[in-house]
Amino acid sequence: MEYSPDIIEIVGLDTRFGRHVVHQDLHLNVKKGEVLTLVGGSGSGKTTLLRQMLGLEQPAKGHVKIFGRSRYNCDYSLLKNVRNRTGVLFQQGALFSALTVYDNIALPLRELRILDEQIIHDLVMIKLNMVAIEPEHAYKMPANLSGGMIKRVSLARALALDPELLFLDEPTAGLDPELSESFVRLILDMRKELDLTIVMVTHDIDTLVSLSDRIAVLAEKKVIVTGTLEQVRSYSHPFVESFFKSVRKKFQHTDNRELSWKTGPMPS
Ligand SMILES: Nc1ncnc2c1ncn2[C@@H]1O[C@H](COP(=O)(O)OP(=O)(O)OP(=O)(O)O)[C@@H](O)[C@H]1O
Ligand SMILES: [Mg+2]
Repeated sequence: MEYSPDIIEIVGLDTRFGRHVVHQDLHLNVKKGEVLTLVGGSGSGKTTLLRQMLGLEQPAKGHVKIFGRSRYNCDYSLLKNVRNRTGVLFQQGALFSALTVYDNIALPLRELRILDEQIIHDLVMIKLNMVAIEPEHAYKMPANLSGGMIKRVSLARALALDPELLFLDEPTAGLDPELSESFVRLILDMRKELDLTIVMVTHDIDTLVSLSDRIAVLAEKKVIVTGTLEQVRSYSHPFVESFFKSVRKKFQHTDNRELSWKTGPMPS
């Protein structure tokens, strides 16, 4: 069997919905341990690409390899193995509204069918603690949580099975700046504690700058450029120029600071 050093490898991918071509000859790789951020205009096919990486959708052409194995034509046990090694925070509120916070996080653990309820209880409480949710909120329904709490509980559920690979689709969308910043800190702390690879989609420049190791830009139905913030923002393309305009403004006098963001404390 072919071994791929990348956690995800996408080669020559085409996606169509009827006559609507979303991706054409798209290539992308995700390296172990990195945070790769996918940016692109609305409708450029970012969520669809994540769904294909997760195996929820099949491309018309090309291949998606995950953990060195093909995403398609694989048997059920392999699919299950891949699923247990990945966590996902969906763009649209991902919690089951009929289940409590506790049961939402317990769900993937119960699906394993090998853990007893006492262990599940302890694991749920550990995950809640990781995302800074007090135990007293465990028995609340999602409808009674704030937007920021829903994001954090969704993250706790995504982390339930201690994944190696985490997908975050617009993790800070709809959060006010303070909540976004605390969410970003949470992810940074988590990266230190767990050996995580993260594929993230975001429109939010602060989130992108604070978390990304590499950025991939989706435009014209493909990934037009992949690289560090410096490399990507100097790439000449109208989408890149308009997207990163605000970064330029924000950092025009503080060029060294943005580099320290990733390792040092967040600027106030
Ligand atoms: N199941 C589907 N059936 C038909 N069209 C679809 C389907 N899923 C996505 N699309 C179309 O594919 C395109 C890409 O959608 P996608 O949700 O991946 O975009 P996106 O980049 O995530 O956008 P946003 O930034 O708004 O979240 C859109 O034009 C969308 O309407
Ligand atoms: Mg989307």
